[in-house]
Amino acid sequence: MSVPATVKLLFHSDLDDPAAWIPHLRREMPGLEVEVWPKVADPRDVDVAFIWTQPPEGLSTYTNLKAILALGAGINQLDLASLPSGVPLARLVDPMLAAAMADYCLYAVLHYQREFDRHARAQAERRWNHTLPRAKDGFRVGVMGLGEMGGTAARLIAGHGFPVRGWTRTPRTFAGISCFAGDEALGSFAAKSDLVICLLPLTAATRGILGKPLFDRLPAGAFVVNAGRGAHVVDADLVAALDSGRLGGAMLDVFREEPLPSGHPFWAHPLISVTPHVASFGDPRSATPQVVENVRRALAGRPLLNQVDVARGY
Ligand SMILES: NC(=O)c1ccc[n+]([C@@H]2O[C@H](COP(=O)([O-])OP(=O)(O)OC[C@H]3O[C@@H](n4cnc5c(N)ncnc54)[C@H](OP(=O)(O)O)[C@@H]3O)[C@@H](O)[C@H]2O)c1
Repeated sequence: MSVPATVKLLFHSDLDDPAAWIPHLRREMPGLEVEVWPKVADPRDVDVAFIWTQPPEGLSTYTNLKAILALGAGINQLDLASLPSGVPLARLVDPMLAAAMADYCLYAVLHYQREFDRHARAQAERRWNHTLPRAKDGFRVGVMGLGEMGGTAARLIAGHGFPVRGWTRTPRTFAGISCFAGDEALGSFAAKSDLVICLLPLTAATRGILGKPLFDRLPAGAFVVNAGRGAHVVDADLVAALDSGRLGGAMLDVFREEPLPSGHPFWAHPLISVTPHVASFGDPRSATPQVVENVRRALAGRPLLNQVDVARGY
């Protein structure tokens, strides 16, 4: 399809550097003009918004938008209800994003199965902690959400010899992974997960899912890894479950408030590992073709790749 001489793209993000994207975008689509918020000449001339969050004034003045492309795999940072209605929304699905996430999750599994957490605590006390780890094939990993992130992570971890089970909203089949679906299956899924990894989208159904009711269903001393979104965790329930010994440790990459406030109890908790929302990151080199293809689709009025079902919330 021929593309108009100039196509205007709005870029808005407080996390992503436009300079990392612009050369790749221009190479793929020479007619593309990128306007980095707040330097927007006339919002009415913008064709496509490429954003992490909405600009503070919203998008209502961008009256000719043909698509909103999220700068992340998750879209809950965008207030879906306040997006202009009728403008399709797509999320970023980048193979390198999923691969980086899978590496993070495999690291977390090995960290706890090989007891690096215990060894680090022992070293701090100059204590020789000669305990041998649990066998890999007896360390059961449960992955909540088997989408782009969870599916890739589950396959990688299973490929390393760990028994893996997955939990989804609708029934799924993955070779070598025991699959559970729906709220009624959450208990059986949790009961045999020595470590759970949350890679769910944040929706009304999943907010607060990493809380006491789930922790009580996990085997005693289980580990929790959250790389989904911060509001999946009920912070006070997590601290209570760790303090009581119900849970053995938690590795957290995402938080209700980011950056995590300096006074937050997670920072200093001996059983919590904090990473600053770095489990995965989009790479403009591998993600640009999808963005440009979606700009072309938007201009042609065709359905977008990885279009979000706004009613479903993911
Ligand atoms: N920390 C980071 O650096 C980082 C980076 C990228 C993404 N993320 C986060 O990772 C999460 C997953 O992203 P994704 O791209 O993999 O999402 P996705 O492809 O949309 O997959 C979502 C998965 O969650 C399942 N799910 C949704 N609602 C559910 C429910 N109520 N009960 C059970 N399962 C449910 C879906 O089930 P169905 O298969 O049945 O639809 C699907 O398997 C998001 O929260 C995203 O924000 C974090």
